[in-house]
Amino acid sequence: MRVLILAAGMGTRMKSKYPKVMHKLMGKELLNWVIDTAKKLNPSKIAVVLGHKSEMVEQILTEDIEIYYQKEQLGTGHAVMSAKDFINNEDILILYGDTPLITEETLNKLVNKHMETNADATVLTTILDNPKGYGRIIKNENGKLIDIIEEADTTEEQRNIKEINSGFVIYKGEKLLYGLSKIKPNNNQGEYYLTDVPKNLNYVETYVLEDFTEVLGINNRVQLAEAEKIMRKRTLNKLMLNGVTIVDPESTYISPDVEIGQDTIIYPMTIIFGNTRIGEECEIGPMTRIVNCEIGDFVKIIRSECEDAKIENNVSIGPYSRLRTGTYLKENVKIGNFVETKKTIINKNSKAQHLTYLGDATIGEDVNIGAGTITCNYDGINKHKTYIGNRVFVGSNTALVAPVDIQDDVLIGAGSTITENIPKGSLALGRAKQITKENWVYKKREKGE
Ligand code: UD1
Ligand code: CA
Repeated sequence: MRVLILAAGMGTRMKSKYPKVMHKLMGKELLNWVIDTAKKLNPSKIAVVLGHKSEMVEQILTEDIEIYYQKEQLGTGHAVMSAKDFINNEDILILYGDTPLITEETLNKLVNKHMETNADATVLTTILDNPKGYGRIIKNENGKLIDIIEEADTTEEQRNIKEINSGFVIYKGEKLLYGLSKIKPNNNQGEYYLTDVPKNLNYVETYVLEDFTEVLGINNRVQLAEAEKIMRKRTLNKLMLNGVTIVDPESTYISPDVEIGQDTIIYPMTIIFGNTRIGEECEIGPMTRIVNCEIGDFVKIIRSECEDAKIENNVSIGPYSRLRTGTYLKENVKIGNFVETKKTIINKNSKAQHLTYLGDATIGEDVNIGAGTITCNYDGINKHKTYIGNRVFVGSNTALVAPVDIQDDVLIGAGSTITENIPKGSLALGRAKQITKENWVYKKREKGE
């Protein structure tokens, strides 16, 4: 089976500089939701039809997606004709790029019915209380589909039909080519309708979907927000039914691709997006944002930001920590208040609990990073590395001027500015010697100064 996704339309009703299919739902473009769902069906190939501002849409596509161009948007039938070379004897599933809530399960059922019945085409339909704006399904007395009529072309009687065309249809490739050759733009919109193909075929089946929310098309930003709400609720329910506690679903945003293990608790006002995996028995939130992270078991993250980070078991983060790209925290690490990390590996049992910046650093096991420690990794032109060995104690308010190499078992006095490498087992002090003048204050006072 091949999949062809139509995404050439302008999306006028979005009132946007960007093509409709580039707008995001849960951090991912509408078109990429459809593509990622299509990929789960393991088709032999996936192609998209692009038109309006195609050079922008191309930027969000992965290389395995074939692209066809529809220069003028003359209708959905015309869009498919623009990808004629993509159609062969294989079955072909047509999807619309503005319908991101469709699930793999539903598409599989559609495909299975199509194969079992050996139909020329199988149309995914659903029943809507308010079918306004959708194409209506016309069936004969035996319940067989004979036509699809677009809203603009319906008679008053047809407008009352509640069964609608989702736009998702699977065809036998050669039947689609035949049907396309028959369609003409003689309708109220002067377009080549893809929906005119079925009436030209001998045997068309329908698969009627119960959960109509899956086929909601997004044409404006109100519908975009509704889709976000539906996708969010669906995702949270699935997680909760699989053993994740979500204390306040109303204020929790988790995208459907995220995986979370049993008995993990998600506290309010937490956002978890992207390619993220979280293990079992973790406590996440409140007020935490996690994007593209791999997180082990028994991890605690409170009021923090984590992006592109790897976090092993039993790590504790926050409140108010910020893990940036390339952070890797191994088992039992503790990152505390106002600590920022970037491109930094921290090995087992080490701690940085207060007011610290660690960038481009490798830190050993059982290290204590004192409050206010800063890796000075940037000299204004280049970034440099800091290396800290095992069992090092860095005193509070230390500046580590990179590149610098601090070996095992070193002790650095508080307030030091370290500019030179330190051999193992040493005490290092890099600060002005303290001067104390006894009774100096009292003498001044006696003189009345
Ligand atoms: C279409 C269907 C309608 C169905 C509805 C479901 C047709 C004629 N109508 O109507 O029966 O109920 O979807 O949501 O197919 N596109 C192109 N090139 C074009 C026109 C559209 O690529 O020339 C793409 C759009 O980018 C969009 C998709 O096709 O992703 C659907 O187009 P849209 O204009 O939104 O169709 P609807 O009026 O919603
Ligand atoms: Ca639409």
